[in-house]
Amino acid sequence: MRVIQHLNFDWKFCPDFKEEFISPAYDDSTFGLVQIPHTNKELPYNNFDEKSYQFESCYRKTLHVESYLKGQPAILHFEGVMTYARLFLNGYFVTEHKGGYTPFNVDVSRYLKYGKDNQLVVYVDSRERKEIPPFGYVVDYLTYGGIYREVWMEFTGPVMVENCHVRTRNVLNTEKLLDLDLYLENKTGLNSAITAQCSLMKNDLLVDQFQSVVLLNGELTQQVEIQQKIENVELWDTENPHLYDLVIQLYDNGLLLDKSQYRFGFREVEFRVNGFYLNGQPLKICGLNRHQSFPYVGYAMPKRAQYKDAEILKHELGLNTVRLSHYPQSQHFLDRCDELGLLVFNEIPGWQHIGDKGEWWDITRQHVKEMIRRDWNRPSIFIWGVRINESEDCDELYEMTQRIAKTLDDTRPTGGVRCRKDSHLIEDVYTYNDFVHNGQTRGLDKPESVIGHKAPYLVTEHNGHMFPTKSFDSQEHRLEHALRHLRVLDAMYADDGISGAIGWCMFDYNTHKDFGSGDRICYHGVMDMFRIPKYAAATYAAQQNETPYLQVLSNMRMGDYPGSELSDVHVFTNCEYIKLYKNDQFIETFYPARKQYPHVPNPPIIIDNLIGNLIEENETFSKKDSRLIKEILIEVGRVGIESLPLMSKLKMLYLLKKNRMQLSDGVALYSKYVGGWGDSATTFRIEGYQNNQKVCEQSCLQSFEQRLDVQVDDTALQEEATYDVTRFVVRCVDEGDNVMPYANDVLSISTKGPIEVIGPGHIALVGGGVAFWVKTTGLSGEGLVNISNERFGEVEHRLTVTGRVDLSPHLPSYISPQTVKPQLEALAE
Ligand code: GAL
Repeated sequence: MRVIQHLNFDWKFCPDFKEEFISPAYDDSTFGLVQIPHTNKELPYNNFDEKSYQFESCYRKTLHVESYLKGQPAILHFEGVMTYARLFLNGYFVTEHKGGYTPFNVDVSRYLKYGKDNQLVVYVDSRERKEIPPFGYVVDYLTYGGIYREVWMEFTGPVMVENCHVRTRNVLNTEKLLDLDLYLENKTGLNSAITAQCSLMKNDLLVDQFQSVVLLNGELTQQVEIQQKIENVELWDTENPHLYDLVIQLYDNGLLLDKSQYRFGFREVEFRVNGFYLNGQPLKICGLNRHQSFPYVGYAMPKRAQYKDAEILKHELGLNTVRLSHYPQSQHFLDRCDELGLLVFNEIPGWQHIGDKGEWWDITRQHVKEMIRRDWNRPSIFIWGVRINESEDCDELYEMTQRIAKTLDDTRPTGGVRCRKDSHLIEDVYTYNDFVHNGQTRGLDKPESVIGHKAPYLVTEHNGHMFPTKSFDSQEHRLEHALRHLRVLDAMYADDGISGAIGWCMFDYNTHKDFGSGDRICYHGVMDMFRIPKYAAATYAAQQNETPYLQVLSNMRMGDYPGSELSDVHVFTNCEYIKLYKNDQFIETFYPARKQYPHVPNPPIIIDNLIGNLIEENETFSKKDSRLIKEILIEVGRVGIESLPLMSKLKMLYLLKKNRMQLSDGVALYSKYVGGWGDSATTFRIEGYQNNQKVCEQSCLQSFEQRLDVQVDDTALQEEATYDVTRFVVRCVDEGDNVMPYANDVLSISTKGPIEVIGPGHIALVGGGVAFWVKTTGLSGEGLVNISNERFGEVEHRLTVTGRVDLSPHLPSYISPQTVKPQLEALAE
């Protein structure tokens, strides 16, 4: 039976490689002790040389394998090693792998010593080897080095299911079809009949069971198809992502040979010329691109951080889709997408450049296979990207990648992301990066003008480099960033021929010298590198209707605007209307700007005056004069007194004269109703209403005293297959809980107990906020995180930490708590 031995703890690491390291007898006591996921070099937040992580290194691990496992295939599995790996076991060369984004595994049973210690050595080359995609030219993202995803060894049955493609067919009928493709590995040479028993489970409960006779043909590998009609199952969709597990047990005359499990969902995806359909229902794809990087540690983040990103996309930003730009990403991230109902665009590694026909092409073909075979059962994946992102047309290569994808998986459409109009459509969907919008121009091009004819069409990138935006940029700039995303969304919703749009991108990311703002950051995210939202995040969050949402995209301080001209305050919300109050006095009710943004589900609400009826109520002017004065004051606020049109100037003079006022009286009115100068404090309160009920509110005020707001994603951490992490978000906020975007206070972070900070212990707020992650160190107990600052004093947070499971002497390497019990029981038998 299968036993999984996780191999993530306590590796020895050296940022160098020498042949002598391969020898089992080599004394590695000078190596550092590291845990997987591991980055070969911790980097600063920005301003570094990307060459600093591009080097060769060595990882060594001693692993003890129990005698009782002898005779079973021992499949050593690496989820991701950047970029090239060569494995040695007990001094023998075992295998190599090229490409850092796809997993590889190998049966190492013939090299293992049972009941003894074994020495595993991994040579890792993290240089940009030009024969391996995405390398050979420039790349707009970093490819951090190391063994950055988990490692394990799986002891399987001698006849086993190496992989199973669970295809669901006729899912819209009451009677559905399970069409299984079993990839068997038979190390016994057996050519007799065995039984495959399949159990369909949901949340660990049996839903259905069936069995099939499998005739082994004595070959090492064999493919077998099993079909079964299924009823009474629920579909997977973005609202209700029902998941099922298929447990396959192979029996030979009642003797269990192997047991494996595959998670999947019943759902149907289809692109038509008039849009995307999920389970026969039209669905506009609305999403963002995601890189898999984190500050300091690059790609090396375990499960919880990966889960969190999917949760942010689904719950914080209200999206239904994510594109894995530009490579297959962590299985943990994808697990969470499956669970949450987040659609995923999965694509092969690459960026604009196609390398030499030969090895580079071979690896690309290999990448297509590895990606699809890894992820083919995931209901979240609705399309395979089988083209190098934004590369030139290359029909020979792309006909091959298309053929491989279709041969392996006939249940999903393919796309290939290009930025060229009129490129050859070899795949099923024309997936296009549309950067036509520059603030003035239309939001998106029409599909027909891009392709020249009608075809299924999806926008896979927009915005991004067209308008880099930092969380500490001016308000106008940050608002324009949000509006650009909004204009694109409006164009997308307007056109049935556009299946959807996936914006560039979820969060800022470190990049090469050729890209970004010169500090090795591309500030293209709707969130910063810490996943703290910028204004543009509100464009997306306001489009969902699940929870009330209201965000004022202004601090409503005129002094922060050029010429002190504060006008057209944008409120991004899903409310039906908002009410504005100034110092608790009602000003006016405002409604969504549907004329300007007719197609998005929830247009913003624009506050175009801060005066309302106050002049009429507070002053002694006639009703008509009050209205005229209000109009002129609003216009002055909008364009400045110098630029007032002649007619308005004349009106102003007329009003002054008629009411026996000096110009200074006019200025005083301006200060009172627009500027608020001299008021003890001015507070604007914005209330959001749905079904005539107040559902949310925000107050914008003059801040006299700020505080540090600290939010932690989790309060309990637990080590399982590897260490655990969580994120602390620290923001300087005012009395209304609004972020102070220009606060740059320095924080000192320290920990006590079984946790440590990832990255530096002293950090500064960036755009009013910053985040850091802490990781477990193996022990259990209470972890204390202390955040201190001269201005704010100290803030302390406690975390409950469960460290590594205490291992029995029989199981020297870590085995997860879920699996340890049955395995110990099995051992005892
Ligand atoms: C695209 C590219 C992305 C990113 C983006 C920035 O051309 O596909 O990887 O560089 O531009 O806007």
